[in-house]
Amino acid sequence: MTHMHIAGSIHADAVQGGPTWLQLPEDLNALDLRLWPRGTFRDEAGRVVVAGVPLTELAEQQGTPTYLIDEADFRSRARDFREAFSGWQIYYAGKALLTRTVARWAAEEGLKLDVTTMGEMRIALAGGMPAARLALHGNNKSDEEIRFALAEGVGRIVVDSFDEIERLERACADLGVKATVLVRVTTGVEAHTHEYIATAHEDQKFGLSIMGGQALTALVRCHSSQYLDLRGIHSHIGSQIFETLGFEVAIRRTCKLASQFRTATGVELPELDLGGGFGIAYTSADQPRPTTELAAAFEEMVEHECRAFDMSRPMLSIEPGRAICGPAGVALYRVGTVKTVELEGGRSRVYVSVDGGMSDNIRPSLYAAEYSGAIANRRSSAEPVLSRVVGKHCEGGDILIRDVFLPGDVAIGDLIAVPGSGAYSRSMASNYNQVTKPPVVSARDGVVTTMLRRETLDDLMRLDVGQ
Ligand code: LLP
Repeated sequence: MTHMHIAGSIHADAVQGGPTWLQLPEDLNALDLRLWPRGTFRDEAGRVVVAGVPLTELAEQQGTPTYLIDEADFRSRARDFREAFSGWQIYYAGKALLTRTVARWAAEEGLKLDVTTMGEMRIALAGGMPAARLALHGNNKSDEEIRFALAEGVGRIVVDSFDEIERLERACADLGVKATVLVRVTTGVEAHTHEYIATAHEDQKFGLSIMGGQALTALVRCHSSQYLDLRGIHSHIGSQIFETLGFEVAIRRTCKLASQFRTATGVELPELDLGGGFGIAYTSADQPRPTTELAAAFEEMVEHECRAFDMSRPMLSIEPGRAICGPAGVALYRVGTVKTVELEGGRSRVYVSVDGGMSDNIRPSLYAAEYSGAIANRRSSAEPVLSRVVGKHCEGGDILIRDVFLPGDVAIGDLIAVPGSGAYSRSMASNYNQVTKPPVVSARDGVVTTMLRRETLDDLMRLDVGQ
């Protein structure tokens, strides 16, 4: 490994242009433990150790980039939700990260699982998650997916349109089964998050509108169907949310809808699913609320609204994805190029290029998501410099960490670890620029097990069947 000093890099205290939330760290070698899997530390040799695995060893064994998921961390967060939301059904949202192993962990921790496609159903079942514990989502489920779900005995189908209700009824008639359904509604809540991950405002593709009256019509329609067993309402307001206010409004509106349904039919709906969306800390500026606090707030909000509408408390569910697997994951990259770019006013920025990028983590490019990172293979006593960690793709927007302080001696061969990478990174990966997708390994007490192997060029070549 080469350690080169970067000529001309400017010390952090001289650099302007970083975002206001980014604090100059007192000690660059210290890890903000709120961002990393529980138990992560930097050992005496300066190596970051996750789940008992020094990341230098991980890089040697697996190559880079590699995604590591700390099994104990995943399980402990699953347990936190189970314990804090005691009596609630916890559906782990498989879209955040799903492998057979992850499905097994979720099953063993007593969670249920939210799936959206045939692929997610197949992986979940292959991992040993019982079909009865699955909820099938999606605004455009195929007939094949619907029929597969019915044949396997998937526990809940969350219907999203009138078209789907009809198709579901036809499939039930053909297969001679009844489907257990929830109706996905849009509550009109403007979740304070990126537009593309806010899902309950009116003008978007998910759900049936409460305000437009379609939600009530759909509920009554499902209730009167001989093929459907209507259990209740489903609401998901968005993702990476820190405030409970949006949930409060969603609970009020769904409870009001349930009471309107009761007036129309004389029947009280037994279930309410409030979806996922609980935010995690990607940077030191993020302040997610502890799960116990969230649970207490949710309990209080539900109780209050049930009382207001004179309803008995329904069976409640939530669907956390990111909050369970996000903090459990670390992405590990190797530095290949370091470049100092001169900016206006005599300032400069250090561009640190690593061997992954927007193909394994599209979130910064897609949502302007912020991350943090640290050199994982050594300590450094160099001064911090404002840096930008970028990928190897042919796009200027191929940024992994827009603003981060790294030691000024960051060099080719260094390893950069990015916490908070367990959710929506590898699961949203692509083969852009014909790059092979990185592996996902799990680690526990120093033992590394491959969950998803690294894609190979042979994998890519096999798909390309043209002449
Ligand atoms: N339930 C439903 C119906 C959902 O659509 C989602 C996420 C979840 C639960 C889980 O949300 P979570 O607890 O993980 O925030 N790719 C974006 C997030 C999109 C999430 C889509 N649905 C991102 O990288 O931020």
